[in-house]
Amino acid sequence: MPDDPEKPAPRADSDSVRRVWNANAGFWDSQMGEGNEFHLRVLLPSLERLLALRAGDRALEIACGNGQLARWMARHGASVVATDLSDQLIERARRKPAVGPGRVDLRVVDASDEAALRALGSREFDVVVCNMALMDMPEIEPLARALPELLGPGGRFVFSVTHPCFNRSDSPRVARWSDEGGVVRETVGLEIRAYLTPRAVEGVAVLGQPLAQSYFERPIELLLAPFLRAGLVLDALEEPTFPATEADPASPPRPWFSWSRSLREIPPALVARMVRGGRNPRRDGRDDDPPHSPAR
Ligand SMILES: C[S@@+](CC[C@H](N)C(=O)[O-])C[C@H]1O[C@@H](n2cnc3c(N)ncnc32)[C@H](O)[C@@H]1O
Repeated sequence: MPDDPEKPAPRADSDSVRRVWNANAGFWDSQMGEGNEFHLRVLLPSLERLLALRAGDRALEIACGNGQLARWMARHGASVVATDLSDQLIERARRKPAVGPGRVDLRVVDASDEAALRALGSREFDVVVCNMALMDMPEIEPLARALPELLGPGGRFVFSVTHPCFNRSDSPRVARWSDEGGVVRETVGLEIRAYLTPRAVEGVAVLGQPLAQSYFERPIELLLAPFLRAGLVLDALEEPTFPATEADPASPPRPWFSWSRSLREIPPALVARMVRGGRNPRRDGRDDDPPHSPAR
């Protein structure tokens, strides 16, 4: 629940989440294009490493937005089924042709609908990817339960999220100015006031978006728990940050407003890869596939 009773209550069901993303679809598409600064500079290098796409891979994208990552995967040779809850975003994605060699098949699917997810294929996909969307979903258990059925032999699930610890809606950036014996120091940091208790809050992904959206913030243990319970294991983890560059065109005049200039030591995102686990004698479940090899 929000800390401030004056703030609007978060929208915690799929219909409400869909309404907001439909209302924001045009704005989101215009801002995201084929990948915004954050996607291209922070996320994509990690996604590329963890996805480890090979020509001909069958990929499923959950919550694809305007389809920009799906088109990128198709350019890298994957055959992609890209899904999102928002029919308006899927409609916009359909207007943009994917430039092969792979193909993109776009579908409206709510990732909280386990049956709809399972209907996408049985042991079908080499890669399932969910980029910057788990924190937009009130429920992640249905996706976690469906994954072992969706992933083919050697398949991997790759996701990215806003960093659960450092990139929270209630963690303001703080600037400190001090005169230390004639030496002026300006330092910038984050104030982390809460982490462990999951919460739903209203926020904005991109300044200027028509409607605020709901975020469902979870600590790392609760983010991973449904996937671990479903029999997946963590195979790779990255905490990417902005690359070191002299000039940052997106940087505002005051450096402490800019994550890329002032908080480079603090990762704004977390990118992880999970695979079906090996046989665990303490767990009932089918583990037919050999463990995933990171050398793919
Ligand atoms: C921050 S956007 C990310 C879009 C895209 N993955 C990208 O990185 O460009 C979050 C997306 O999650 C989608 N979404 C939210 N809840 C969903 C759900 N239950 N099922 C499927 N998509 C959902 C929204 O419609 C939106 O497209």
